[in-house]
Amino acid sequence: MSLIDSLSRQRPQNADFLAVLNDEASVRMVEQFVAETVIPHALVRRGTIADTVALLASMDRPPRQLMVDVSTSAMPLSDLISLADACPPGVSVLVVGERNDIGLFRDLLRMGIDDYVVKPLTVDLLHRVLDHNGHPAEPVQQTRTGKVVLCMGSRGGVGTSTVAANIAWRLANDQERRIAIIDLDPFGGPLAVLLGAKPATGLQDLLKNINRLDPNYVERSFVPVGRRLFLLGAGHDLDDEDGEIPVEPLSQLLGILKKHFHYVILDLAGRGGVLATAMVGLAESIVLVTEPSVFAARETVRLTGLVDRRETKAPLLLVVNNPHAAGRSELGVPDFEDAIGRRPSHVLPFDRDTAGRAENLGPPAVAGRGPLAIGLRALADDLAGRRTETSAPRPLLARLPARIQSLFHRP
Ligand SMILES: Nc1ncnc2c1ncn2[C@@H]1O[C@H](COP(=O)(O)OP(=O)(O)OP(=O)(O)O)[C@@H](O)[C@H]1O
Ligand SMILES: [Mg+2]
Repeated sequence: MSLIDSLSRQRPQNADFLAVLNDEASVRMVEQFVAETVIPHALVRRGTIADTVALLASMDRPPRQLMVDVSTSAMPLSDLISLADACPPGVSVLVVGERNDIGLFRDLLRMGIDDYVVKPLTVDLLHRVLDHNGHPAEPVQQTRTGKVVLCMGSRGGVGTSTVAANIAWRLANDQERRIAIIDLDPFGGPLAVLLGAKPATGLQDLLKNINRLDPNYVERSFVPVGRRLFLLGAGHDLDDEDGEIPVEPLSQLLGILKKHFHYVILDLAGRGGVLATAMVGLAESIVLVTEPSVFAARETVRLTGLVDRRETKAPLLLVVNNPHAAGRSELGVPDFEDAIGRRPSHVLPFDRDTAGRAENLGPPAVAGRGPLAIGLRALADDLAGRRTETSAPRPLLARLPARIQSLFHRP
């Protein structure tokens, strides 16, 4: 089901303005305000923050404006964190509560809430804080935005697309984030195959019309991969002499997408030139995929240098993947670390069966079992700032003090 299909189906629980309030009197006030202001596609319900989170999960698309009530909440801040996980960054949130507490108000603003209104609600008060579309009349807060994550490789074939697709799948399916993944190979890389989706070719048209975009057009250009993951790519013909992705409109598009997705994941083909430099410059996180080889070590040093020279320091996750079986001539990971002078954030094992099955039959490796899946899950969770399972418990011997371990080793 495409995003635009979901828009046109107009399920009753799809709404542009959603208000969930704890008590009947507040519900009636907001209903009266909605009727007076004629806000289109409004839904007003009685319930708690937990009900709001459940309602958001049942919607095909998020509302533009959300009004939630923390008055019965014992821990309003942690409840609002779970709400933030359930709704994309561009949704404007107005919180209603009973406590006239400046500390709480400040904490809420720091979390990206647009405004805080103290009960009792009256229609007059709502007219003062909301405009005729139900948006805050004077938002106290800048809009929250999602993050651009740039996945790039130290050389071709190191597994950049594999990493990008698996991170996107994990964040969308296991962490319930709204994710856009963009294939920046002008001629189309393997993302669609890896995600079991139709090839996406809407990017070039979007970029040509960057000054005439409307939300429906943008949404229609993506290929849906499940409820929360959306794929976009260019797919130029191989003999297309204009087969390039223009940087300026792409940067503009990313600015727009960041308001609607928690993460915009870029799969960059190649590692130099205007496009790569611009994307390194604007990404909020960079995942640099490499392999333990001499050439990759050299290129890793060049690329980490490029990332380190940026003015705004984006976190860099260095991933040493093993897309080839280890032979005698391969560098070991310790030698590779010595060569590049830094420790990788993650090392992914060689696993031809899992990678091949995922690539040809799906679903992505991260959805399955085994060391590669565990490594990919740890990587995606690290990117999202979450702790994850470790690959395997350390053997008992390794947990003993070195002096005692030595008793078990033959001289
Ligand atoms: N850890 C791994 N173990 C085994 N095979 C792997 C592993 N990681 C990736 N591969 C395989 O390596 C091949 C290249 O992977 P992928 O297309 O992700 O690389 P890439 O860096 O994006 O390549 P390109 O330079 O063409 O964009 C694929 O066949 C993939 O299944
Ligand atoms: Mg690739």
